[in-house]
Amino acid sequence: MDRILNGKEASKKVKERVKKEVEILKEKKIEVCLAVILVGKDKASAIYVKNKQKACEETGIISKTIELDENIKEKELLDIIDNLNKDKKVNGILVQLPLPQQIDEKKVIDRIDDLKDVDCFNVKNIGKLVVGENCFLPCTPAGIIELLEQKKIDIKGKHCVIVGRSNIVGKPLAFLMLQKDATVSICHSKTSNLEFFTKSADILVAAVGKENFITKDMVKKGAIIIDVGINRNKEGKICGDVKFDEVFEVAEFITPVPGGVGPMTIATLLKNTVFAAKIQNKL
Ligand code: GUN
Repeated sequence: MDRILNGKEASKKVKERVKKEVEILKEKKIEVCLAVILVGKDKASAIYVKNKQKACEETGIISKTIELDENIKEKELLDIIDNLNKDKKVNGILVQLPLPQQIDEKKVIDRIDDLKDVDCFNVKNIGKLVVGENCFLPCTPAGIIELLEQKKIDIKGKHCVIVGRSNIVGKPLAFLMLQKDATVSICHSKTSNLEFFTKSADILVAAVGKENFITKDMVKKGAIIIDVGINRNKEGKICGDVKFDEVFEVAEFITPVPGGVGPMTIATLLKNTVFAAKIQNKL
């Protein structure tokens, strides 16, 4: 079991630190508050939002959830964001994705004040990340780094192979890993000879969204495996992108799904919300 990278346990340590920081801010009469916007009735999104609310409660952060009808017009949603941007009591704003098709996701994300963009999704914050300026940390990528660091796994000089090039995980993770002096390869659906890359990975990150995508024969013995996937299998059970049982046999360390990367994503969100409260109060 020592070879399992337990995100539930690692996230508890982050939450303890966050809780202490929230208490210190309370002593200075600063209440930390995160606003979460949920549009529509997507079941998975509703669960993610509930988990975020619960984590806020555990750490003393006020969570304000705004549930909106799936037919909401883009303009109405943008107006709500404008009001939250102006609201001095709100430190962080998160719009749960995906959004219904009538809404331009990019426009919505970029409308969030960059000092309240605790997801680190908007263009300004991603730009800061790329050039290495101090800013919010992208939640899933930074959660992965924290998980590795808690286990004292050094990524300096390692070949990190990321399968998946999304704006939320693959791309920002590549830049964070580069900052930590890793050598990074990003693979995707059009990569020729994917196995050549995955087999050369010291650290392999699967962020594909396909059950059982990474099999034992694609992995180097002793590699570290990070599974970002959250899929539902035929039996309705949550599973990742990695065929866990067989890859576990060859990996040095591996994240489970659930209980691996997911809790670390939320832990980073909490850290970012506290950071937002600090910079907005010039601390
Ligand atoms: N949908 C899936 N993951 C995320 C996330 O990390 N943040 C937001 N806002 N939406 C998501």
